[in-house]
Amino acid sequence: MKETIHNEEELFDMLDTYIREPEEFWTDFYRDRDKQIPFFKNIPDELLVSIHKDGIITKGKALELGCGPGRNAIYLAENGWEVDAVDISMTSLQWGEERALEKGVSVNFIHDNIFKMHVEEGAYDLVFDSGCFHHIAPHRRLSYTRLVDRALKKGGHLALTAFMKGGSFGGADMSDWDVYRTGSLRGGMGYDKKQLMEIFSRFEAVDIRLMEDLDESQGMFALSGLIKAFFRKE
Ligand SMILES: C[S@@+](CC[C@H](N)C(=O)[O-])C[C@H]1O[C@@H](n2cnc3c(N)ncnc32)[C@H](O)[C@@H]1O
Repeated sequence: MKETIHNEEELFDMLDTYIREPEEFWTDFYRDRDKQIPFFKNIPDELLVSIHKDGIITKGKALELGCGPGRNAIYLAENGWEVDAVDISMTSLQWGEERALEKGVSVNFIHDNIFKMHVEEGAYDLVFDSGCFHHIAPHRRLSYTRLVDRALKKGGHLALTAFMKGGSFGGADMSDWDVYRTGSLRGGMGYDKKQLMEIFSRFEAVDIRLMEDLDESQGMFALSGLIKAFFRKE
């Protein structure tokens, strides 16, 4: 019967309707490409560039969660990676396709909800997320870490950029319970190092630190107010 909850997934689906920004929100978000949104610039995260350039990760297969218009997926593809990049917003993926075409690279853009898509077990050397994780509601967090764990090979890495708690661009300083009391993520939850270590405790924390501002003339994206984290699957 409709609206009867039979299992965990149906419970989460119901909670999503109260908390998660709906697909329409993210579809509208990318309609105006001239908006002054820092991550609309087609430059990769400094975190990604540094781990790639330092040889900490070597090219292989990558999965980007919440890829938006694809600036990081495209950087990886330009550097020889095979990339699956998923986002719930079709408008962002269309933009990403255009960018990839302009650069002459191939990215496998996938239109899906990260919690609904099929992920091949142990298929990826790298899972990358810049700005999606902080939009994930608490009831989905465990599914998120399981998804990353399932996707990664042994020895694979997760690299993550998220709002820090109380950051200048967002990063609500609220408890998980507050999310459900107020019915809102207040534009995205903020995290600190201790929380990220707890949430991703199934992985080895290689490096977690606050980002520092970087002039975009350097061709990379980094802003204070964000936290970057790098984990390894043992
Ligand atoms: C702040 S934007 C960051 C976009 C991109 N990573 C970047 O940095 O340019 C967050 C993205 O996550 C996507 N997103 C949020 N929840 C999602 C979900 N459950 N499944 C897939 N994508 C999701 C949104 O559509 C949006 O494009």
